[in-house]
Amino acid sequence: MSDAVNQKLSSIPKHVAVIMDGNGRWATQKGLKRVRGHQKGVEAARTAVTFCANAGVEVLTLFAFSSENWKRPREEVSFLMELFLKAITREVGKLHERGVRLRFIGDRQPFAGPLVETMNEAEALTRDNGGLVLNIAVNYGGRWDMVQAARQVARSVQELGTDAAGITEDKLARHMSTAGQPDPDLLIRTGGERRISNFLLWQAAYSELYFCDTLWPDFGEDDWTTAFEDYARRQRRFGGVPEGNGPSNEIRGS
Ligand code: FPP
Repeated sequence: MSDAVNQKLSSIPKHVAVIMDGNGRWATQKGLKRVRGHQKGVEAARTAVTFCANAGVEVLTLFAFSSENWKRPREEVSFLMELFLKAITREVGKLHERGVRLRFIGDRQPFAGPLVETMNEAEALTRDNGGLVLNIAVNYGGRWDMVQAARQVARSVQELGTDAAGITEDKLARHMSTAGQPDPDLLIRTGGERRISNFLLWQAAYSELYFCDTLWPDFGEDDWTTAFEDYARRQRRFGGVPEGNGPSNEIRGS
């Protein structure tokens, strides 16, 4: 991102979450097989990481595979698994060099051994990095996340013999898959649909939503800049009332 753009963006979201939609349509429109769209989607994910790291975003969460994506044709699912394995193996070294901390959120249980090992190794290698935290959501669902957090809390309540009244929002948040990270400030969905599709349901309670028609493989630097400019103009009240004239994220006059 250029300095000029950076100066214009007075407010950078700390956590950006993305539903990367439109890979299949991108390919179909070009007379290509859907899987070519996914390959191109990995390139767009690389742009996303570079842009966000340069902009000073702390956490980027990419929705790579939802709990519902198993319903796709078997060949497409296998292709995606192979693509994830290759992409992680190929990119992890560069991400590590750039100080990115890689995390995978979602239920890994149904994945093949080599993919799980590759995920574990990538997390272990980058664990102590202090740069951008990159969450890749694979076999992730917002409802699954809440259920797994609730199970952990219920277990500790049982073990400690404490009262259910001690279950608080904070306690549940500490067991969500993004525990310790700020909630997403900005949730982007490409590809024209205007829904959250069981993404970070708990964490997105106050996220600013940004929907656009651009298909994910085409979502480049200019689109990122436009999304961040739009975010900078939003008024965030978190259920309260605006102070004075109602400040937006934009720091006026600067
Ligand atoms: C949505 O397009 C995309 C996916 C289901 C996930 C695949 C994402 C990638 C391959 C890019 C990122 C990869 C990594 C490793 C971070 P779609 O198939 O739903 O498109 P459509 O709505 O046009 O059919």
